[in-house]
Amino acid sequence: MKRIGMLTSGGDCQALNAAMRGVVKTLVNSGEKVEIYGFLDGYRGLIYGNYRMLTGKDFSGILTIGGTILGTSRTPFKLIREPDENGIDKVEAMKKNYKKLKLDCLVILGGNGTHKTANLLREEGLNVVTLPKTIDNDLWGTDMTFGFQSAVDIATNAIDCIHTTAASHGRVFIVEVMGHKVGWLTLNAGMAGGADIILLPEIPYDIDKVVEAIENRHKNGSRFTIIAVAEGAISKEDSKLSKKEYKEKLRKRPYPSVSYEVAAQIQEKCGREVRVTVPGHVQRGGSPCPYDRVFASRLGSEAGKLILEKEYGFMVGYKNREIVKVPLEDVAGKLKMVEPDAKIVKEAKLLGICFGD
Ligand code: F6P
Repeated sequence: MKRIGMLTSGGDCQALNAAMRGVVKTLVNSGEKVEIYGFLDGYRGLIYGNYRMLTGKDFSGILTIGGTILGTSRTPFKLIREPDENGIDKVEAMKKNYKKLKLDCLVILGGNGTHKTANLLREEGLNVVTLPKTIDNDLWGTDMTFGFQSAVDIATNAIDCIHTTAASHGRVFIVEVMGHKVGWLTLNAGMAGGADIILLPEIPYDIDKVVEAIENRHKNGSRFTIIAVAEGAISKEDSKLSKKEYKEKLRKRPYPSVSYEVAAQIQEKCGREVRVTVPGHVQRGGSPCPYDRVFASRLGSEAGKLILEKEYGFMVGYKNREIVKVPLEDVAGKLKMVEPDAKIVKEAKLLGICFGD
């Protein structure tokens, strides 16, 4: 008999359900008796003992459904050691519930913050297996996270749609892509959508270079320019500020996001008409793409196998086209960023894409 606790934490993404289904199907098909405790709304469910008993049937028919059947929430790692508003010690509460339910293992699906807490629970003696979800693809230790490809599809589709209207009007269009502090999503959607300029957090931009690229396109007969801007993109000037100074600058910035600032600067410097589109959370929504369905199912099934073999303390990841297990202590607290001199960036530059550097 296996008693498994399961939770999804942090921002949702496509294929969370597919991944959980993969774990449960693998366990159920092994012939081993399993009890599944689905903690609701992320770590909150584990802290406050809020769970639902689930069976294999609950995971049937959810392969193609976005979001998470368990619900999710953000429980910031930096506050995890601080008591909640009622004085409850969150870490002790999670350990207590784990022990009370006599769990063999926790299956935790999440991104960066989630992995820091998962590793802390491992250090505290709990058995943990994790799965890498996030549209940002910024988890260290895996070449790919599930949700990423689905979001690339959606962001690409947004750029595709903008293309026709941009061409008709001869305007400059900015599409702001999610990704938090990393540029994987913008880089991939930008390349897939044929963006002319791509601005990433990892490659601080010079607005004059951006304007120059727009003007060069016009000189060469193009009527429009598409710019894919990562929500975390930063100018060269701002990248020299300390974290504190930059935060303060953002607080006072008279624009809702970086794209609007870039738009205003372009308009001011070259007088061209600029429009901004922000697809936002649309990028995290809807059905997982076929790639993510297969990928998340594979990761889930590997996680199920680890549990059956009592191999705990790992994230199931993807390296060099193989599903692998990565020690949690190696994953926690590290960001996987786009290297400014990565081959993909060099190749994009050869294609004529301007990164504003
Ligand atoms: O981490 C996924 C992500 O969608 C980021 O790309 C984005 O910056 C953030 O979550 C948005 O968070 P929230 O849903 O809490 O607004």
